[in-house]
Amino acid sequence: MQGFQWLRTGVLAALASGAAFAAAPAQAQGALVMYCGVQEEWCRAMSTAFERDTGIKVAMTRKSAGEIYAQLKAESSNPRGDIWWGGTGDPHLQAAEEGLTLEYESPVNKDLHDWALSQWKAAQKRSVGIYAGALGFGFNTQQIKQKGLSEPKCWADLLDPKLKDDVQVADPNSSGTAYNLLATVVQLMGEEKGFDYLKKLHKNVSQYTKSGAAPAKAASLGETAVGIVFIHDAVVFAVQGDPIKAVAPCEGTGYEIGSMSIIKGARNLDSARKFYDWALTPAAQALAAPAKSYQVPSNKNSTVPPQAPKMSEMKMIDYDFVKYGSSAERTRLLTKWDKEVKALPK
Ligand code: G6P
Repeated sequence: MQGFQWLRTGVLAALASGAAFAAAPAQAQGALVMYCGVQEEWCRAMSTAFERDTGIKVAMTRKSAGEIYAQLKAESSNPRGDIWWGGTGDPHLQAAEEGLTLEYESPVNKDLHDWALSQWKAAQKRSVGIYAGALGFGFNTQQIKQKGLSEPKCWADLLDPKLKDDVQVADPNSSGTAYNLLATVVQLMGEEKGFDYLKKLHKNVSQYTKSGAAPAKAASLGETAVGIVFIHDAVVFAVQGDPIKAVAPCEGTGYEIGSMSIIKGARNLDSARKFYDWALTPAAQALAAPAKSYQVPSNKNSTVPPQAPKMSEMKMIDYDFVKYGSSAERTRLLTKWDKEVKALPK
């Protein structure tokens, strides 16, 4: 009788503690809610391998970088995600500055390239570099020939009136790729000329897509003549034999430091830290190339896929990640782009 009474009191106390009681089973099984910012196939390969290696169950959603940042902000009073893995570094930096992500120092940091650690330092330890990739475009060789154009090599070539409604690029509000373009053009040409360029480009843009890599697929299928994307996203289709060529623009170009951050208020913090350490290892980074993601990995001991575009052979700008990843600058440029570019009639 007394035993029963004890049991009953215990159950009632557990029920009274509501949320904690409800959260316990998920943690006991080991769970991880992952917001994934790269291509779906790589996201799936990472979550499956992590589950297999650790027994921790992963709930993964793929979204573009600007969307994940907005989601973190919207959920900040009741965070639902644990780890934000992948996507361009700028929105990760903005999230870090706004206190939406947590400081962490992985034991694997010692094996990372300087550029990956510079992201970590810029983010006050709240984000780290996982890969790098250069910006450029892909063009459909058949479409360009049909239009009587010579092969585009430079940013300036994309303003040709013959390309009217035949260029695709993503919307920088949702896409980290397109924000990278906006920041690249401003750094390469200066703000006034950069915005002039984007306004002229607007005349040729048929569609601002949500995801950054979508225009590469459209160019490979001939749905658009040109897609402005990270060069590795165009290479995917070139290596499988589609009529697309990837270009590193002649004037010079920007690049991304694809990043990872632990979300503040993560319900599965231990799992998030385990994933973070695991994702920086050469074994985990080797999952990229078989999933057709040809970025340069951030661990010095990782193998660079042979398909990865050679950034050392391109003319690169000295991208100012601190400035263009700051909350004030990113917000200012996006507002300006909405008002001065997207709103323009065609
Ligand atoms: C693709 C690229 C990544 C990049 C990401 C950004 O997945 O392969 O290197 O970080 O796009 O995505 P978004 O949709 O935000 O432009």
